[in-house]
Amino acid sequence: MLQDKISIFRMKTNVVYGNNAVDNTGVYVRELKGTRVLIVTDPGIKKAGLLERLEKTLKEADINYTVFDEVVPNPPIEVVEKGIEVARKAEVDLFIAIGGGSSMDVAKAINILYTNGGHIKDYAGVEKVEKPTLPLIAIATTCGTGSEVTWSSVITDPEEEFKFAILSSQNIPEIAIIDPTLMAKLPPKLIASTGMDALTHAIEAYVSAKAQPFSDALAIYAIELISDNLRKAVHYQDNLENISKMAIASTIAGAAFTNGLLGLVHAMAHPLGGMFNIPHGIANAILLPYVMKFNLVANPEKFARIAKVMGENIEGLNEREAAEKALQAVIKLSTDVGIPTNLKEVGMDPSKIDKLAADSMKSGNVFSNPRKNTIEDVKTLFRNAYEGNL
Ligand SMILES: [Fe+2]
Repeated sequence: MLQDKISIFRMKTNVVYGNNAVDNTGVYVRELKGTRVLIVTDPGIKKAGLLERLEKTLKEADINYTVFDEVVPNPPIEVVEKGIEVARKAEVDLFIAIGGGSSMDVAKAINILYTNGGHIKDYAGVEKVEKPTLPLIAIATTCGTGSEVTWSSVITDPEEEFKFAILSSQNIPEIAIIDPTLMAKLPPKLIASTGMDALTHAIEAYVSAKAQPFSDALAIYAIELISDNLRKAVHYQDNLENISKMAIASTIAGAAFTNGLLGLVHAMAHPLGGMFNIPHGIANAILLPYVMKFNLVANPEKFARIAKVMGENIEGLNEREAAEKALQAVIKLSTDVGIPTNLKEVGMDPSKIDKLAADSMKSGNVFSNPRKNTIEDVKTLFRNAYEGNL
């Protein structure tokens, strides 16, 4: 299936997955010739006893390491600046991120500054990083962000109340480690929100104006896996198998969107995080059905396929009707895992809609959204999502 436009399918990361995979990290560091490592993480990882397992394997492999554990959700520039000081002082030659998307995004940002210098905002946008970065091993402890395989790092500028994305091939980790045993004690609410983030990655990449056959293959399978496993990963008592499948799905979805790109849900979710500190997965999950409804007409055949893999009965329906079923499937899943249905419930201030919409339009994701859009469309979407008017 050749197309007339030239696309790039990025596939750099070796994905290591399976129970207890983290216990081999020292071996991978050695393979990558790392001798002095900066571990980038958040305080919760240490508290949960997960850092200990990483430290043990590094000690066994005789690797020197320094821990930077000051990452917070929606990480601000200041955290990156603190981290780069620690990295320079320790003269590291390899980075390990262990945690959720925030730890990985901060590790990527520190890595860029370490070899390229300057200010982290200089690199906002697409492929602005000139010099090669050091190897990065990304160890996922949540099953949703996909950052362990993506080209993206999202950092918050608190002064501007704005989240900016650094999209660069230099951000893609050398190795991703997916170890479900690190995810065994995840709170159900976190599984729900990060799982819906992964679903948003897969759906946005699949229907994107920049979708390509390679990313489609990944995206549609991720949608199916998430649809089949997210409810049980959140609610079932003995859920490790489902968490494991969610972890795989979220990594696959990450690889899908690094190539197929994203759309208006992410363009709009980032300002919500920057302004109101709404968790990324929750913002996405609330916005997703509203944006899908807006986008349906632009790409109905793909939405119809989403409905099918999410288990909807589309027999006898025309393409347009089948596409509507995708919307219903997403709403059912989101409601079943306890996600609020509107932005009012999560503290959005409607008087900020003009700024939210203006900031959304600064995102590169508006160009890959399947349906042509204007700032007025985005304002209407924010208003509808605030009121719960679907
Ligand atoms: Fe996301």
